[in-house]
Amino acid sequence: MNMNGDFHGKGLWAVILGGSSGFGLATAKRLARAGLHIMVAHKDKEGVVETQIKPHFEAIRQTGVKFVAHNVNLFDDDDRAGVMESIEEQAGRGKVHLFLHSIAAGACKLLAEPKGPDFRADAIKGLQEALTFGGAAVTITQLRDAVNKAFHEKRCDALYTVADSKIPYKDDLLEEEDVSRTVWMMGYDYLLWGRELLARELLSPEARLVALTSEGNEIAWRGYAAVSAAKCALEASCRAMALEMGPYGVRSYIVQAGITDTPAGNAIPHFDLMMAQARMRNPFHRLTTPEDVAEAIYALCLPPLSWSSGSIIRVDGGEAISGL
Ligand SMILES: NC(=O)c1ccc[n+]([C@@H]2O[C@H](COP(=O)([O-])OP(=O)(O)OC[C@H]3O[C@@H](n4cnc5c(N)ncnc54)[C@H](O)[C@@H]3O)[C@@H](O)[C@H]2O)c1
Repeated sequence: MNMNGDFHGKGLWAVILGGSSGFGLATAKRLARAGLHIMVAHKDKEGVVETQIKPHFEAIRQTGVKFVAHNVNLFDDDDRAGVMESIEEQAGRGKVHLFLHSIAAGACKLLAEPKGPDFRADAIKGLQEALTFGGAAVTITQLRDAVNKAFHEKRCDALYTVADSKIPYKDDLLEEEDVSRTVWMMGYDYLLWGRELLARELLSPEARLVALTSEGNEIAWRGYAAVSAAKCALEASCRAMALEMGPYGVRSYIVQAGITDTPAGNAIPHFDLMMAQARMRNPFHRLTTPEDVAEAIYALCLPPLSWSSGSIIRVDGGEAISGL
């Protein structure tokens, strides 16, 4: 690779777990343009693959790089082994330059039944009383409908404190099994893959290993407990990998993305309200896009950032450090 970031003709690969959507897919597209061969693993229904995902994969092939996709369940031992064998066969020794873990497979459930003041209902009631006092005949139902219409259809983001979310909390509470599966797949699984790629001598001399965290690593969002625990395990894994794999030339990074409109995001309870809040407080007043993050991951693959390792890099336009 030369300093202008062109990987064409080098025979290097990017292996992306969770490469059919969101950050994983955007990174696959970006790195294919830069000349890395691409292998993705993902888990999607066949109908979705046919109608929504295949055109993206075709666009990657059109760039001229090699492209391999595995639609498998990475919770399954045989499927995991199959992907590892495929990496050995397709990429081979010393050729994996980027490994990205971008799987979203977490349980988003509450720990306990919600309790406490109903600020939304109280605000609507107070507003209705004030309007009635002022001579307008408005019912609570009319007011609530108007607020929801303005929020969901006219994108009045400031109403996120009073609008009803279209992504409610799940009925069942978080179970131990939910936590352990989430902490495995979205936490230390990154370490397991990185270690195996190193042991099989598949990594390039200056390989980059990358995984994704969120602001929910430090602050608690309702319904995000298991994923939050996983993010802490992920970040600890990244530091350990940077330390112990560094002598082999490996760099390990965690990218902390801002709130991004993806299928996984929309599985988090109240994510519609979170997106509105993020648009308001982000200094650029927009959400992070998968392409913003893909550009950052591409930059991490290049020589100028090679002295960075074991770090959490925020790619969020300043969202995490911004108050309202
Ligand atoms: N969306 C956000 O706001 C946001 C913000 C910060 C960090 N993140 C993190 O980014 C990562 C990727 O999330 P995303 O928003 O791009 O999600 P996404 O829904 O767009 O993509 C998730 C990917 O995981 C794959 N996947 C899910 N279960 C799988 C399984 N069992 N086996 C194989 N593949 C499986 C899907 O096929 C898909 O390719 C996650 O770790 C998430 O926590 C997301």
